[in-house]
Amino acid sequence: MALSTRYLGLTLRNPLVASPSPLSQTVDGVRRLADAGVGAVVLYSLFEEQLIREAARDAQLADAGADSFGEALSYFPAEAEAEATADGSADEPSPRRYLSLLERAAAAVDVPVIGSLNGVTPGGWGSYAGAMQEAGAAAIELNVYHVPGSPKISGRDVEQQLVDVVTGVKDAVGVPVAVKLSPYFSSTAEMAVRLDDAGADGLVLFNRFLQPDVDPESLTVVPAVGLSHPSEALLPRTWIALLRGRVRASLAASTGVEDPDDVARFLLAGADVVMTASALLRHGPDYATVLIDGLSDWMARKDFTTLDQVRGLLAVTPGTDEVARERAGYVSGLREANNHVYGPW
Ligand SMILES: Cc1cc2nc3c(=O)[nH]c(=O)nc-3n(C[C@H](O)[C@H](O)[C@H](O)COP(=O)(O)O)c2cc1C
Repeated sequence: MALSTRYLGLTLRNPLVASPSPLSQTVDGVRRLADAGVGAVVLYSLFEEQLIREAARDAQLADAGADSFGEALSYFPAEAEAEATADGSADEPSPRRYLSLLERAAAAVDVPVIGSLNGVTPGGWGSYAGAMQEAGAAAIELNVYHVPGSPKISGRDVEQQLVDVVTGVKDAVGVPVAVKLSPYFSSTAEMAVRLDDAGADGLVLFNRFLQPDVDPESLTVVPAVGLSHPSEALLPRTWIALLRGRVRASLAASTGVEDPDDVARFLLAGADVVMTASALLRHGPDYATVLIDGLSDWMARKDFTTLDQVRGLLAVTPGTDEVARERAGYVSGLREANNHVYGPW
């Protein structure tokens, strides 16, 4: 089965991409994902907070800018690794250790390794993205994890900040840039088009927000870091179907993949690639093989021979009145639920 595909202008052997997760925190982890057959690996994120901490710890490095990260790599790769274990911060790596991992992972596998930057403020992203490119990233994924909790920030300002981040990173690197989007915009489609116009090579739909929970026993606020459920795929799938053919950027589906049918569903909606983290964490990296083989089997069963025959088959055709279509889907869904699923009482 011909599963080869294009994403961000890169050629991938298949459309399954390992989304950032603890599975890509080591070279061995990245190798296991590649051995299991994924088309590309997005490394776990380097967080803006880590960059700020590193800059405070090492003002000289911060002053010198992006090039110094390249130097740091050549001087300190061994120390960077040791640092992770010596101070017990293996899961909170320094930027230097991240770049060292990126460089070694990119050299170790024959699939594209994509660097991930996670932050919110406009400053600094360009130089760190440049350092990732230098370290061998095939592309950069920007995860702009921003919960605009302040009542003083307008929606337009939140959007502009995102556009500015993308413009700054695009100016700084030659490798493709993808943006991992939040689903919470008043006009997601317009935001997607603005990012497309700003030069984003790919849009990843969507980021999964981790809201803390409230424990009524301990009377405390507790972090809630759980794996996703397939029902969460409905939201990104709706938007992928709506954006297909309306932006030049590649579309990556993220959230809710559990089995091969979920991969097929996203492709039918119009995704160029389908990302997965929770399923691989739940079942192990080798589960990527199950997803890829399952996709091939499904295509054979349905008489598809290429991904082009599948992709976007159930997308919303450009030119359709999107608002009316979604409204009609909502109304008929409710009518069905009222009459047949949950009623009449
Ligand atoms: C334990 C864990 C760690 C994650 N770390 C990152 C990260 O470093 N950067 C990032 O962009 N997304 C991160 N994610 C989000 C995933 O990449 C993915 O977008 C999200 O979990 C939804 O996809 P899924 O349903 O396949 O899990 C993480 C998810 C989990 C569960």
